[in-house]
Amino acid sequence: MVNKKDMKKQKINRRQFFGRTAAALGGFVAFSLLPVAASEKTEMKNSKSGFTLWQLPSHVNTIGNSYVMRTNKGRIIVMDGGMPQEAPFIRGFIDALGGEVEAWFISHPHSDHMGALSALLPDLQHLKIKQIYHSRLAENLIDKDEEQNLCREFYDHLEKSGIPVKDIQDAGQILHFDEMNLQILSVQNPEFEMNAYNNSSMIMRVWDKRKSVLFLGDAGVECGDKVLQGTYGHRLDSEYIQMAHHGQNGCSQQFYKSVKFRVCLWPTPLWVWNNDGGKGFNTANLKTVETRHWMDELGIKEHHVTCLEGMWRLD
Ligand SMILES: [Fe+2]
Repeated sequence: MVNKKDMKKQKINRRQFFGRTAAALGGFVAFSLLPVAASEKTEMKNSKSGFTLWQLPSHVNTIGNSYVMRTNKGRIIVMDGGMPQEAPFIRGFIDALGGEVEAWFISHPHSDHMGALSALLPDLQHLKIKQIYHSRLAENLIDKDEEQNLCREFYDHLEKSGIPVKDIQDAGQILHFDEMNLQILSVQNPEFEMNAYNNSSMIMRVWDKRKSVLFLGDAGVECGDKVLQGTYGHRLDSEYIQMAHHGQNGCSQQFYKSVKFRVCLWPTPLWVWNNDGGKGFNTANLKTVETRHWMDELGIKEHHVTCLEGMWRLD
């Protein structure tokens, strides 16, 4: 729940997010099911799950993006991990799952995505991380964001951690973690100097025999349209889709019209969900309400919103 004290506490983060949004502002197809035959859908649902996914809610009422997956054989995969203040929570969550991370993916170096990992790296204690994956920004992009110092600090922590780091600069790679598969569909984009960090989000698709999930990070219009029109555009269709940039001012309406999906995952605090800058519903400059309307137009019926539902699990 959000109270006035919490809202006050998060003022800086909220202001930063509204500011970031302002800086970045730059044929209807109805569907409700994946394009598979009914018999195939039944077969998919009856298949054994290859991984469990948890969508973690923000614990500091900010815009953290945090997902954890556990494969059918118990290997742990982390997607982003949230804000620096959430490091103790994700450490504890991983600990409860065995304390060892097989692979930690960072979509892009904004603090609401890499902050928790960056905070953990200098003092891992008993936490084990076997491999980190990211797509390192080109030098021309690093200084294009107000969080450039945090980004450089994160890169420094990566280098000093001693953990193997895989810098992915080409899309297409497919990784297998037991019965869970992951494909990189988009990497950093040095040509997009506007909204640079968000538009360099690594976009990833994860699937097993019964479900698929698309992680869009904070992809902006340019990043989303590029991957949609590129070599791996045909790989975007997924049953579940993590809404780009917390569900507002991310990918274009055309992107969401073009990609087939059934369920929206929203890593979104209440003030973003309601576009509430402190004066009530839809009184600020965020685009969440517009995106929600797009999803209604598309006939999407199932939504999992962190601020409304808390932790959500998918098997
Ligand atoms: Fe974000």
